[in-house]
Amino acid sequence: MEVISHDIVIVGAGIAGLRAAIAAAEYDPKLSIGVISKVYPTRSHSVCAQGGTAAVLREGDSLELHAWDTVKGSDFLADQDVVELFVNRIPIEIVKLDHWGCPWSRDEDGKISQRPFGGHSFPRACFAADYTGLHEMHTLYGRSLLYDNINFYYEWFVTSLIVDDGIAKGVTAIEIKTGKMSVFKAKSIIMATGGYMRIYNFTTYSHSATGDGVAIAYRAGTPLKDMEMVQFHPTGLVPSGILITEGARGEGGYLINANGERFMRHYAPKYMETAPRDVVSRAEYTEILEGRGFKGPFGPYIALDLRHLGEGKINERLPLIRDVCIKLAGIDPVDELIPIRPAAHYSMGGIHANIKTETPIPRLYAAGECSCLSLHGANRLGTNSTAECLVFGAIAGVEAAKHAQSSSLPDIPQNPLLMEEKRVYDCILKHEGSERIPEIRNEMRYIMDDCAWIFRHGDKLLEGLKKIRNLKERFRNARVEDRGRVFNTGFIAALELDFMLDLAEVTLLSALNRKESRGAHSRIDYPNRDDENWLVHTLAYHTVDGPRLEYIPVTITKWTPQVRAY
Ligand code: FUM
Repeated sequence: MEVISHDIVIVGAGIAGLRAAIAAAEYDPKLSIGVISKVYPTRSHSVCAQGGTAAVLREGDSLELHAWDTVKGSDFLADQDVVELFVNRIPIEIVKLDHWGCPWSRDEDGKISQRPFGGHSFPRACFAADYTGLHEMHTLYGRSLLYDNINFYYEWFVTSLIVDDGIAKGVTAIEIKTGKMSVFKAKSIIMATGGYMRIYNFTTYSHSATGDGVAIAYRAGTPLKDMEMVQFHPTGLVPSGILITEGARGEGGYLINANGERFMRHYAPKYMETAPRDVVSRAEYTEILEGRGFKGPFGPYIALDLRHLGEGKINERLPLIRDVCIKLAGIDPVDELIPIRPAAHYSMGGIHANIKTETPIPRLYAAGECSCLSLHGANRLGTNSTAECLVFGAIAGVEAAKHAQSSSLPDIPQNPLLMEEKRVYDCILKHEGSERIPEIRNEMRYIMDDCAWIFRHGDKLLEGLKKIRNLKERFRNARVEDRGRVFNTGFIAALELDFMLDLAEVTLLSALNRKESRGAHSRIDYPNRDDENWLVHTLAYHTVDGPRLEYIPVTITKWTPQVRAY
């Protein structure tokens, strides 16, 4: 197997991965950095972020207020030291992006525009119309090309993390165009592979968001944290699930039920449509369950009304979603209601990492949505995600660089490489089974929508867990139809599904075990938050018998839990 060496290897080239690469390259221009991405960087899911990036930039706002909004939004499950560091760092990141050429929307006086977003008590979402993620990604990617010490591996699929003597030493990866596996060895490795909401069916996520890095780290021995905490975005376009940005409500859009009522007044009288996502999604779902949804060929839905904003404002602030509505739902929001309902949007959980992005495995770092630094707790506020990717991507890059400066390249043992080749080529690509990959994948997604959605119940979670375990058995008897190695997307899809099944299992088990309701985790059978027993983070460890759960305390610095009302 060919061996490729870099001082630092970064897996993933979305906002967190690119920001990490730039930070490491600037920290020490002599370090060689390899960035491996399964898609071309500007096709990473980060380009789909629409509404903005939260930062305190103006008088009237404060770091303290941003931190408090984040802690309250998290339903007090966020680690407060992480939150404080985050709110302090993000304004610097916004200015950096500005200097690197990010085309922020501007006010008349030239200042970066900021708009309201759910759960934020001040308009602090910096935005570039509703193409924020796309412009941030183009800015970062353009910037990254300036550094001679950043080397990209486009369309390579990482399959495993090599951990030897308890230390991360490298990754195996397949070059998709040849199907050939190589090993990358490194002094520091950063996982920045994004989220895994493609385990659900109705989701705002790109097809590439399959959580490979999360599952790879889990299998290699890193615990996954708070995986029960899944965010449902209130406005997934019906029927595709494509994101209609919360910025639409930040700009003044209304949510209405089939009676024409702005029903949010019953659920969040002060914040109305800009309450946090868990609150708004539960409200919408309650309206639907109680029969006040609109009826449509794709099931009941809620309407987002932007008509009163007028064509000028929609074109200036929300051009992407107008285009998406016209092309994918056949409606023009200038004069028609947008059919929406909650869609799986984000995982608060992920690879357990500390405030410095270090995981429990030495030399392995994690940043962005694949990680769980406990910034978002049980519910993330909109626009804190791209912000997290920038802040903690930069921190991961610097930490990985510091470590790489003082260590030497590891020797990689042969045994795990042989085992990985066997797993990937013999047990998956060449396996003569009768089950079909797309069928198992579809079943997994319908099970997750059915059993681990907005309102959860122990019986359904258990049913879902049993069904996912059954699918895992069936996967062992699956067949990849195309047996070739060259640009075999069916083969890559099989590898992704294998990872997703693990993540679905951990999500269900973690949710089944958390016997309370907190943030996005809403249990019908345990409807109250229970700080006495459950003010803790879940850790899920990989074992041959399935996930093993442990719990660790939440870090509280100054905000004691209280009733969360909007
Ligand atoms: O609604 C949105 O634009 C999504 C933003 C986010 O998830 O932070």
